[in-house]
Amino acid sequence: MPEAGCAQPAEDVQKEKELQDLFAKWSGVKGSLIPILQGAQEIYGYLPKEVLLQIARELKLPPSRVFGVVTFYAQFHLEPRGRNIVRVCLGTACHVRGASRIFERMQDEVGVGDGETTEDLRFTLETVACLGCCGLSPVVMINDDTHGRLEPDKLRSIVNQYE
Ligand code: FES
Repeated sequence: MPEAGCAQPAEDVQKEKELQDLFAKWSGVKGSLIPILQGAQEIYGYLPKEVLLQIARELKLPPSRVFGVVTFYAQFHLEPRGRNIVRVCLGTACHVRGASRIFERMQDEVGVGDGETTEDLRFTLETVACLGCCGLSPVVMINDDTHGRLEPDKLRSIVNQYE
């Protein structure tokens, strides 16, 4: 019996199993690095360094190649992400309608800056160049929800809807 505190948490064991299943699914398939990275990111929420090393070993690739791919594509994340992804649009249409004031206030509301994640993993804050709904500018997306025609004073009650 492992001593108390030495056992791997059940959640980690489950994730490890899912990763092994992912490896099995793509075993021997050419060009499997990207789909495996995508699958691993779905399992862990981001790509921990140990997982990248495991992927490199599994695919018999130099770790530098795996890290190179991960850092090249914006879809991959090397740090944990928040449960809620806040995207503030700083595109032209939003800019002319006060997006910079929205962004400044949003940083205060969530307590982190661009590209950062709160310690409690509640929020990740990002800026984007256009969210594709310029008619609603200035716009913020939180997860899949679009919040348009914003004013800084509206942000607190919006942010409070997301745990
Ligand atoms: S510029 Fe902000 S949604 Fe297009």
